[in-house]
Amino acid sequence: MSAGTLRLLFSAQQIQKRIHEMGAQIDKDYPDGALHLVCILKGACFFLADLARAIERDVVIDFMGISSYGRGTTTSGAVKLTKDLDLAVENVHVLLVEDIVDTGLTLNYLMNTLQQRKPRSIRVAALLDKPERRQRPVKVSYVGFEIPDEFVVGYGLDFAERYRNLQDVCVLEGPQVA
Ligand code: IMP
Repeated sequence: MSAGTLRLLFSAQQIQKRIHEMGAQIDKDYPDGALHLVCILKGACFFLADLARAIERDVVIDFMGISSYGRGTTTSGAVKLTKDLDLAVENVHVLLVEDIVDTGLTLNYLMNTLQQRKPRSIRVAALLDKPERRQRPVKVSYVGFEIPDEFVVGYGLDFAERYRNLQDVCVLEGPQVA
């Protein structure tokens, strides 16, 4: 596979600054009750780690696995649960922590699934949002950055499992993402 070209979109420093603002907002918005941060694997793992530490109130951390794009850059439309939560969410505030909202299929599916478990509330925090691409309505309460319809990698986001460990978020340009 060719390496592709990376164009810087958000630097590690910009990302950290924004995440600290998001953490402060979350602290303000949840004055009471248990707050479960639910990380959507794998892309949101770095975002979860930094966001959790930018929040000062007590939190619980859990993980959910969802099938994603596989080796391509366009969604198949099918969403599959590959790992369920370890903890019950009845009567707690749930904050889904996602790397990027694209078509909205994943979060739409997850919100419907988790609503059935009767949480006290359920909201979404996403580092990136591509609103132009939306196919299903999703309310994203905390958005790091809105971006145009471009394929991005780094800071947890991958192309065919590569680039997740880049510190910055970059646009991946090249023939393989056309
Ligand atoms: P959605 O269901 O279409 O909203 O897709 C959400 C998931 O697709 C994200 O959690 C990512 O795993 C993946 N995804 C969407 N856009 C990108 C991108 O630009 N780069 C890397 N992964 C992406």
